[in-house]
Amino acid sequence: MARFTPDFLEELKSRLRPSDVIGRYVKLQKRGNAWWGLSPFNKEKTPSFTVNDERGSYHCFSSQNHGDIITFLIETQGMSFPEAVESLASDAGLDLPKSSPEDAAREQQIKGLAEACEAAADFFQKSLHRNQGRGALDYLKDRGVTDEQINEFMIGFAPSGRAELRDHLINKGFADDVLIEAGLVIKPDDGGATFDRFRGRIMFPIHGPRNRVIAFGGRALDPNARAKYLNSPETPLFHKSSVLYRLDAARRAAAEAKAPLVVCEGYMDVIALWGVGVKHVVAPLGTALTEDQLALLWRASDEPVLCFDGDKAGVGAAHRSVDRAMPLLKPGKSLNFVFLSDGQDPDDLVRDGGRAAFDAVLAKARPLVDVLWDRERAIRPLDTPERRAAFRAQLRDLVKNIADKDVRNAYGGELADRLDAEFSQKRRQAPARQNPWRSGGGDRARGRQGFRFQEPPRPSPGLKRRGPPASWRREAALVLAGINHPALIDRQESAFLELELTDLSLQALLSAVLTAFSTDPGLDRAGLKSHLTASGAAGSLERVLNDPELSKHRFLRPETEIDEAEQGFLNALAHHLYESTLKQEVARSASRIFTSGDEGWKAAAAAREELVNVNRAGDADTGDGGDQERLDAVRERMKQSVSKKFER
Ligand code: UTP
Ligand code: MN
Repeated sequence: MARFTPDFLEELKSRLRPSDVIGRYVKLQKRGNAWWGLSPFNKEKTPSFTVNDERGSYHCFSSQNHGDIITFLIETQGMSFPEAVESLASDAGLDLPKSSPEDAAREQQIKGLAEACEAAADFFQKSLHRNQGRGALDYLKDRGVTDEQINEFMIGFAPSGRAELRDHLINKGFADDVLIEAGLVIKPDDGGATFDRFRGRIMFPIHGPRNRVIAFGGRALDPNARAKYLNSPETPLFHKSSVLYRLDAARRAAAEAKAPLVVCEGYMDVIALWGVGVKHVVAPLGTALTEDQLALLWRASDEPVLCFDGDKAGVGAAHRSVDRAMPLLKPGKSLNFVFLSDGQDPDDLVRDGGRAAFDAVLAKARPLVDVLWDRERAIRPLDTPERRAAFRAQLRDLVKNIADKDVRNAYGGELADRLDAEFSQKRRQAPARQNPWRSGGGDRARGRQGFRFQEPPRPSPGLKRRGPPASWRREAALVLAGINHPALIDRQESAFLELELTDLSLQALLSAVLTAFSTDPGLDRAGLKSHLTASGAAGSLERVLNDPELSKHRFLRPETEIDEAEQGFLNALAHHLYESTLKQEVARSASRIFTSGDEGWKAAAAAREELVNVNRAGDADTGDGGDQERLDAVRERMKQSVSKKFER
């Protein structure tokens, strides 16, 4: 149904001067080649909105909105695309293009259905004010709905008789088929007479584009009715999943109030809020928000606000919206969440507390990332490295769902920061950690089961240290895991790339491992070892392979199954992150764990290589301040290459 061809749209735009069209809504002043005025998107005192006739576009520096005359009408006047084009075409004196015969027939059919809905809305409205509508009207008054609201929302009543609407509309000349197709009447399977879908219900007309009535929602008056709310079925006019109640009116109100769209659960919430002057409110139609509905919301607001009941069901619904929205997030486009107190909807809230009560709740809106974080954080305690690792892995999986790369990276960075804050807090609260690497009875006893970092043996104060420091073994284990299980490097690629080791010879060994892999990703254990033996890291390879303590850990043995090795590695990694004295740096580089990217391989490997070379030079020529500077510079560069992606 490409009704407007690109040629037509070009022709349309060429006939109109943007400063003329936009000048009708925004006071513009000429400065140089461009026109300037106050932003129609933001409240401001100095003009940051500019229109350029030559380029046929506007740009708003305060809100970053940009577009042509068509988008201007859509964004600021709440018009749909066809409405904007039709309105501009009439300004330009341009005939609208003729549509194809099929399009015309379809257009005709849709028009017939819309007329039937329009006539039904009229019938329902009149019925509300007849005798039969008495109970419904009383009910509305009881709920505090005013005449003004009844008129604005065209609230009506569907009489309780079997086919009152049908008979009325047939009398007016509508065909039974059209009424069935419009979802107004039902044809029984047994071939009997058609009857009204909505009976004994308060009726809320649902409007579509061009302000046409396209469907209805009906609330039962009888408390024993099978369904409290009933909507029109899917029809050629009405696709429930891509409609929001009151969208057009609410968009206009949002543009006027320069406020974000607010999404509530139901008709009565929208109506009640309108009653206290909050008019930029929409509602889905009895279902969770769909992708289409999110797209509609984001066309009108960067950050629509979703309201939920604070009870379990409400929080569950909010979480579903989080999951639905995550893959669709775009730079600047997100959601905010508001939770009301238990069992309350906005309708209840403003009945008791008026507009102020709702404004107070809106002021406490929370960003999507908070809602996500709280949900994930509440799932498990973070008292062991395994649980922390699981938490991290789960967050990483969630972040992967975000399709937009920039948003994904930003989330990776944000969540890594939160993890770091959370973990360091945990660490401060926890009793002093003990050194699991020190040999001792308990450690030996557990040796067969691999790591148990959460309950390491405590060395007695006077005990002398034997062999290399514990931090060396902690770090060596991570590198050895990769050497004995090259498949692990593939599985835990980012973890290996992120690894920050304090021991420079282990750093060099890791660097050699990564370099070998970046040139030959298919390397097996033997191949890798021969590479390493030939590299400058042969000495530390020897030390790592022959360390008696390391060989006690099952996950480090070459014969151990990869899954077990991976589990052991992740435990060891969690422990390392936990204990690392490079905490800040690790946290920053941990943010990288949240994203994937192959370029990371080469860059990190190259940077490490450079670091090692400088180190070696430094070893040979100790006391040379210049080398120390170079070393620091390379370190700094590595840190930057790792965190660069996240700082945007
Ligand atoms: P509820 O059934 O929770 O409404 O459905 P409620 O707030 O208790 O109803 P009132 O206040 O007593 O009238 C929540 C909202 O979901 C929409 C309605 O707008 C309803 O208010 N809904 C529900 C539908 O549109 N269709 C349905 O089939 C069900
Ligand atoms: Mn309610």
